[in-house]
Formats: sequence, C-alpha cells, structure tokens
Amino acid sequence: MVSAEKAGPTILTIFGAGGDLTWRKLMPAIYNLFLDGWAPGHFAIIGLDLKDLSNEEFRKHLHEGVNRFSRRGKAKSEKWKKFEKCLQFEKQDFTSPATYKGLKKKIEKLEESWGSPVSRVFYLATPPALIEEIAGRIGAAGLAEDKKRSRIVVEKPFGHSLESARHLNEKLGEIFDECQIYRIDHYLGKETIQNILAFRFANALFEPVWNRNYIDHIQITVSESLGVENRGSYYDDAGALRDMIQNHIMQLLCLIAMEPPVSFDANEVRSKKVDVLRALRKFGRNEVQKYAVRGQYGEGWMKGEKVKGYRQEPGVDENSNTETFAAVRFLIDNWRWQDVPFYVRTGKRMHEKISVITIQFRPVPHQSFPAEATENWQPNRLVLNIQPQKGIRLRFQAKLPGLKMLLGPVDMLFNYSQSYSEPPPEAYEALLLDIMLGDATLFMRADQVEAAWAALMPIINFWKAHSPNDFPNYDAGMQGPEEADALIAKDGHSWLVLPMEE
Ligand code: BG6
Repeated sequence: MVSAEKAGPTILTIFGAGGDLTWRKLMPAIYNLFLDGWAPGHFAIIGLDLKDLSNEEFRKHLHEGVNRFSRRGKAKSEKWKKFEKCLQFEKQDFTSPATYKGLKKKIEKLEESWGSPVSRVFYLATPPALIEEIAGRIGAAGLAEDKKRSRIVVEKPFGHSLESARHLNEKLGEIFDECQIYRIDHYLGKETIQNILAFRFANALFEPVWNRNYIDHIQITVSESLGVENRGSYYDDAGALRDMIQNHIMQLLCLIAMEPPVSFDANEVRSKKVDVLRALRKFGRNEVQKYAVRGQYGEGWMKGEKVKGYRQEPGVDENSNTETFAAVRFLIDNWRWQDVPFYVRTGKRMHEKISVITIQFRPVPHQSFPAEATENWQPNRLVLNIQPQKGIRLRFQAKLPGLKMLLGPVDMLFNYSQSYSEPPPEAYEALLLDIMLGDATLFMRADQVEAAWAALMPIINFWKAHSPNDFPNYDAGMQGPEEADALIAKDGHSWLVLPMEE
C-alpha cells in the first residue's frame, strides 16, 4: 500500500530459495520491482536451501523462472545481468546454529560495506513445520533484535487449527514484536482486491447504501478449474476450508463488511477487519449441517479431456474424506449487517476459474409500473470481478427503447483491460515492496488469524467427527455438489456468477 517511496538498503534472506515459491512467484515479482525502479539502491538477496547449487546455477535457475512466469515474459539479457548481481546462494541446513552465525556475519559485512543500516528481511519460503525452528534460530543468533529493521515473513498456511495458530503466534511473539511479523495472504496483494477499499471508501456514492437497509445478501465465489496438481499430500491434510476460506475468502469478506477506517494506518485497517471476524455468528453443533456444505470431486471432463477424481490424485489417500469444495452461509452480528447472509463458496476442479463478489440489493419498496412493464425487472446488483477478468459491473433497470413502458436490466461497466493499457502488478510485487518498506497494512495480524480460525473451528470439528458418506459428490468440471445449491435456495436465492463479457 505504498504511496510513492523506494525502500532503503535491504538484505532479503530467503529460506527455501531452491523451491517452487521462489522460482514461480518471488523472483519474477522482485525482478519486476527492479525493472519498475522500486528495488532498493543497495539490495542483496541471499538464497538458502538444502539443495546443492552454485551461485551460477542458482542465478540460471531463477532466470528461467522469470522467463516462464513473469507478467512481462522473457527477461532482456542486459537487464537480467544487471539484476542478477544481487543474487547469491548458499547450501545450508536450517536446523544448524552455524547457518545463522554465518548469515549474521554476512549481513554485517554487507552493512559495513554499504555504510548504512539495512532492513533485514527473513522470508520463510519453507514448509510450515520449519517456521518455529527457523524463527527461534534467527532470534538466538541475535538477528531479530532491531525491531525497526528486522522482519520475518511467513507464508500460509498459518496453523492448522485455532490451537496451532495460537501456539505459532506465541512462539513468534517470543522473538519478534508483532510489527516485525508479516503473515502473507497473497490475495491481499491482488490489484482488484486492494481496489475494494478504494471503491468503498473513496466514493461517497456507495457507502450510504452499504448496509442491511439496502443490501439483501452477498455472495463470494472463488472457483478454480485446476485440481490439486502436485500438492496432494499438503492438500489432503488441509482441504478447501483451511486452504481457501480461513484466509483468502475471510479476507474478502472482511473488506466487504468492515467499517470505514479512520486512516490507512496498518493497525487501524486491520482492527476494522478483526471487528468483522469477531462479529461472525458462531455455529452451534446442530447448525453446521444447516449452514455449511462440503464436497469432493470425482473424475469428470474438463475442456474435452477426462480428468482424475481427487482420490486418484498423486499424494492423496485413496479413501480420503478431505473436502475439495466448501460453501458456508455466514451472518455478521452487528448494526450494519444483522440478518444479511454472506454466502461463500470455493472449490477445485470446478467448471471455470473465476473469483467474483456479488452484492445483491433489495427490491424497490413499491412497484409503480404496470405488471407487464416489470416482467424482466431485477433488483440492483453490484458485481466485483476479481479474476481472471478484472472489473466492476453495476446492474440497474432501464426503460427498454420503444413506445411501451417496459423495463429491463442494463449494466454500467468498469473493465481494467479497457481502462488501463498496462497489466497491473502481480500480488507478490505489491506485498514484497510493502515488506521492504515496513508497511504491514496488507498482512495478517495475529488476532486476525486467530479470529478467522475461531469462526471456522465449529465446522472443522463437526466435519472431522462426522465422515461424509457421499464422497465424491461432484464431477470434475461441474459447479460443486447439489447441496451447495440447496444451501442458498433455502433462502430463496441462487448462486450468481457474472463474468465480464456476459
Ligand atoms: C493458494 C492455495 O493459497 O491459493 C491454492 O493454497 C490455490 O490451493 C491458490 O490454488 C489460488 O490462488 P490464485 O491466486 O490462483 O487465486
């Protein structure tokens, strides 16, 4: 959430630099920051991993990653040559104190040669099981002491339950102050998601109607067409609720439901989000079945090709009961949202990849038009298209051209690709720059993570205690299980997905 600053001298240490995240996401993002002039003047990236790579091999590997995954396509060779000078690699064991002693020496040497204090960023691109150990050793080596300049970055999943998230928060809190901890949720770095705050709070038009008096219900759909790819063993232990709802979808819900912040101070914005999470109505034991639906994909057809069922994916238990689809109806107990349902759903191997938020307004209080005029009438609807198409659509009623008074829906449309010529930066570009600048607005605070877990634990516990007896219950390529349609139909609604071009 930067205004227009460049980060000061920075040393970014990546634990797990030989892994997929660094290759596909982090390095293309850092390289784009460099191209756009956002990279610090003094900048070093120290890659650590158990893999055996020379500096040269490391640079070559990252170059290939940038060529494949950067939004700008292949890196121009003279630019890359300039950039790669800041990259160095060391084969290191993350459990050995010597690793951290050596790292400290290296950082201090660089600091000395640059003649200025630097921001020390420790990015844990590692499996979650290593977070506690690495953080502890960073602390023991005295690398976390500068509260202003030392930062630790932790990827999701943050915990596996409320209890484990609390434990992890406590452990990190013994070493770092909260302001030094950056818990990543990459959705918060997406341009269209950051724009929700701008849309709501930079326009006087929408906020007065953004409440229970005008809004009937809200839907959040994040559907994916991919299956679990090569992440079967991680996913089988997580499931859709933990993998997508606990973090990304809860954050979307917060952005839609939060009160206006007094300022864009990181803690102010995050406190307003926590208020939403705390106001979520907790499910009683007997309510989970009523308000939450789970599903798992079986084999099916996607774009003319036969694809495997979830239980046949590599790394997945052949009798797995893990959900690959989840839909939940939430209520928020506060003045603004009392009785307004928030329906959320997410799933893998669904018909298409699309993330959409729909704000469905209430009907007009009285129809003055004759019955025949209103045959095609619909209440107002605001659709925020998050991805892959990006834009906002406001649907309202208009008189159909002609001599008769007939009404029909029309759209006002804001489409990113038509309004702006440049593709927006990737989520990781925004997040990495914020980390280097020390701006935590787009990162999850400890209480936020815990409040999100607390809201979901009744569902997690109920699902664990009651095995599903109908899995797989949707075919790959479909829109999830029928029960998800029934969940929303009970309230007289149906799932709405409006892609930009429709
Ligand atoms: C990740 C999940 O956090 O988000 C994945 O672990 C999921 O399972 C991914 O596929 C979706 O991200 P995006 O940016 O493609 O919507």
